[in-house]
Amino acid sequence: MLKVMEMENIALADGTEIRIRPIEPGDVAALMEFHEGLSFGTVYRRFFGIHPHLGIHEAEHFCEVDNVNRLALVAMADDSLVGIARMERVEPATTAEVAFVLADRFQHRGLGRVLALRLAAAASERGITELVADILPDNLPMLRLLPDAGFAVTVSLVGGIVRQTCPIPIQAGTAFPAQ
Ligand SMILES: CC(C)(COP(=O)(O)OP(=O)(O)OC[C@H]1O[C@@H](n2cnc3c(N)ncnc32)[C@H](O)[C@@H]1OP(=O)(O)O)[C@@H](O)C(=O)NCCC(=O)NCCS
Repeated sequence: MLKVMEMENIALADGTEIRIRPIEPGDVAALMEFHEGLSFGTVYRRFFGIHPHLGIHEAEHFCEVDNVNRLALVAMADDSLVGIARMERVEPATTAEVAFVLADRFQHRGLGRVLALRLAAAASERGITELVADILPDNLPMLRLLPDAGFAVTVSLVGGIVRQTCPIPIQAGTAFPAQ
C-alpha cells in the first residue's frame, strides 16, 4: 500500500533544524518568494536558462501534485522554504525524472543529499525503480549529488546535457544513512 509521506524534522551537521514535508497547494506564495531569492547561477542550473521570476500559474503547477506520478518535498527552516526536491514519472512508468534546488545559503551543507535520499524513498514506495537527472555539464554539485549519496549512476550525454540514470536500491529510505 502507498505510504503517505510524512513530515520529518532533521538537523544538518551544523545543527540547523529543517522540517521536510510534501509540497502543498498553499505553498504557492512561499515558492514564488523562494525563487525570487535564488541567485542567477542557481536558477540557471535548475532551469537551464534565464528564469528570474516564477509566474503564478507555474508556481501553482509546481505545488499541485498528485503524490503518485508527481511529487515534491520541501525543506523548511524557520518557516521559510529553503529547498525543493521533485520527481515526475516518465516513460517507462517505473522511471522518474528528478530535480533539486536549494536556497544558495543552504547549498553545500548536506541538505541536497538528505532530500535526494528522502525523494528516492518516496519514489520507491510509488513503484519507481530508476531515477533520471538531466544536469548542465558544468554543474559539479549536482553531478556529485547522487553518486556521493551512494547511487550507482550511469552517465550519458543527451544534446549537450549530462543525463544521470540510477536504480533505486530496495528500501532506499533505510538502505542509506540519513545524511
Ligand atoms: C544541486 C544541489 C541541490 C546539490 O546540493 P548540495 O548542497 O550541493 O549537495 P549536498 O547537500 O549533498 O552537499 C554536499 C556538500 O556539502 C558538504 N556537507 C556538509 N555537511 C554534509 C553532510 N552532513 N552530509 C553530506 N554532505 C555534507 C559535503 O562535503 C559536500 O561538499 P563538497 O561538494 O565540497 O564535497 C544544490 O547545489 C543546488 O540547489 N544547486 C542549484 C540548483 C541545481 O543545480 N539543481 C540541479 C538541477 S537537477
